[in-house]
Amino acid sequence: MSSNPEETAPYGGAPTGSTTATAPKAPIKRIRTQHLREMKERGERFSMLTSYDQLTAQVFDEAGIEVLLVGDSASNNVLGNTTSLPITVDELIPLTRAVSGAVSRALVVGDLPFGSYQASPEQGYLTAVRFMKEGGAHCVKLEGGVEMAPQIERMTRGGIPVMAHIGFTPQSEHALGGYRVQGRGATADRVLRDAQAVQEAGAFAVVMEMVPGDVAAEVTSKLDIPTIGIGAGKECDGQVLVWQDAFGLRTGRLPRFVKQYADLRSVLLDAARAYDSEVKDGSFPAPEHTF
Ligand code: KIV
Repeated sequence: MSSNPEETAPYGGAPTGSTTATAPKAPIKRIRTQHLREMKERGERFSMLTSYDQLTAQVFDEAGIEVLLVGDSASNNVLGNTTSLPITVDELIPLTRAVSGAVSRALVVGDLPFGSYQASPEQGYLTAVRFMKEGGAHCVKLEGGVEMAPQIERMTRGGIPVMAHIGFTPQSEHALGGYRVQGRGATADRVLRDAQAVQEAGAFAVVMEMVPGDVAAEVTSKLDIPTIGIGAGKECDGQVLVWQDAFGLRTGRLPRFVKQYADLRSVLLDAARAYDSEVKDGSFPAPEHTF
């Protein structure tokens, strides 16, 4: 064991606090559900990203992202499944704990996976309790509108803040007939009804996925709770993206609503190739890396 407290723990370990030596030391206010509502009332936008691990959570928290979602998209982006359906509560809770333990400011949302809340309000409540107790989540997210009102009411009554998710809901991919924009034409009313039902049931915010911009704008103006868009245009109160999509770690065709802010895959690929070639030509480790 090193006696130098500055030294990073071997293999990553568990560094605490800011990732930047020059980060401000001012007390950081924790984002609470009511702060998002106050931001909506003031006409201020907020941002949300997925995060599934300690180190990205620290970086996104330091960047000022208000909300971190430990999404069931970890199924595709961490566990290598092709959809979000297979991931389990037992697989998501440790990721939630890693994220909630790493942030000092962001609101951490635990995403209830497929099959863990749809059966009944009681099933949903008990699952949500696990995310709060074992995962350290500050609130939970579930997919569905009108039909999920009893679940949202039960959780809210039991002291658990709920973020709803309407429009395209990936857990219902097969029921919805694939990845499709929801709420076009005559079905726009359905999106509004879902939004009003989840607000009425007690949700503190609602994600709208793949909904036409004008429909999302109307929902946003009619609701008191904040809306968070993903493929729902610029009028939502907040925006969310899956971080591997936004920062270019994932390859392949990205949905149209994703903007890529970095090309991390190329950065990592170049670094891995440089390491590989230095190991093979004997230039790593150099004397300064050797005890
Ligand atoms: O799991 C997830 O990443 C999500 C976002 C797409 C909102 O639900």
